[in-house]
Amino acid sequence: MPAEFPPQISNLDPDRFLARYWQREPLLIRQAFPGLVSPLSAEELAGLALEPEIESRLVRQTGTAPGWELRHGPFTEEDITTLPSSHWTLLLQDIEKHLPRLAGIIEHFRFIPDWRIDDLMISYAAPGGSVGPHRDNYDVFLLQAAGHRRWRLDRRQPVNVRERDDLPLRLLDDFTATDEWLLAPGDMLYLPPRVPHHGVAEDHCQTWSIGFRAPRVQELLADMVEHLLARVDAGRYLDDAGRSPASHPALIDGDTLDKVRRIMRNALATDDGEIDRCFAAHVTEPKPAFADKNRARPLDRRDLRRRLNAGVDLMRNPASRLALLETSRGLLLYADGEPRAVSAALQELVYALTAQSPAPAAMLSKLMTCADSEEFLCELVNAGHWFFADEAEDAG
Ligand code: SIN
Ligand code: CO
Repeated sequence: MPAEFPPQISNLDPDRFLARYWQREPLLIRQAFPGLVSPLSAEELAGLALEPEIESRLVRQTGTAPGWELRHGPFTEEDITTLPSSHWTLLLQDIEKHLPRLAGIIEHFRFIPDWRIDDLMISYAAPGGSVGPHRDNYDVFLLQAAGHRRWRLDRRQPVNVRERDDLPLRLLDDFTATDEWLLAPGDMLYLPPRVPHHGVAEDHCQTWSIGFRAPRVQELLADMVEHLLARVDAGRYLDDAGRSPASHPALIDGDTLDKVRRIMRNALATDDGEIDRCFAAHVTEPKPAFADKNRARPLDRRDLRRRLNAGVDLMRNPASRLALLETSRGLLLYADGEPRAVSAALQELVYALTAQSPAPAAMLSKLMTCADSEEFLCELVNAGHWFFADEAEDAG
């Protein structure tokens, strides 16, 4: 394990937070990021909304029924410059993947495992701007990065909530708040899934949503079933050689049922390892828009050594989904759904590489003790899962 660990969030004790609040209760953390100043200006955010590869949305509260309007980007300069002075919000998804230099914020949350991380969404709102009262299926940390936002939430987590059916947004029909907090830059609000909430901008404000996803059990099972199906010989048919005459022509006889049950149970039999590998592959499946990331000009072992010796750190591509799985046959590194076996000699390097981003060049050089380790690292860089820190803005 590496000597350096990811940075901490102020005023948050990870053990206490996970035991008491995570997935259970909302938590307001005042000055979680003391003195935070967003590195992105309003103009830069507006510029991102014009980019075709960035998923953007604009939510406006209108004076006429049904009261809300949702538009999807990319937007034109005119769309942005003709916005009214209040009551709109611009939402930009997966920003850490497009601007890897902002992925550093996620490093503070590494006490939650990587397979839970979804994305950094940035919202920019004019005074009065809001996306309305709603619930999300994800855990989210709402970090105030500029200006002020008033959050109201219903901590009772009501089960029977009604959603309006006359809108393009899934807004709650009836929302009553139990708590109200005004957040200033550096303050952060944690919300577990399904807590009704409503945030309204007090002034021109930026909220950074660090979102955490959990796989849907139904989708996990679908992957498992697909894996089991691939094991079954497609050319095999149920055989009933040696059967006895039907006692009643319409009846499915007991011998047939025994045979079917045996075949089905065999087909469904799995060991822990198969379930674990299916899970690791599932949670590292990349978002389709970010699946394609091979390095444009492949690098060889000499280039790798040269750059690390020059002190250039390696950054993990925020668009890659990575996870480690310890199996009975050794360590596997999953990257975008694909496993790579990590030999015993490479384990220390791989644990260090995946513990923090950027991974310091000096640490990597020290741990790269053989040709295999150089080869392995080159392969990961060439597949686009890591890049040199000075290439950060070319990525994504
Ligand atoms: C926002 O940032 O305006 C909305 C975020 C949320 O409510 O999930
Ligand atoms: Co929300």
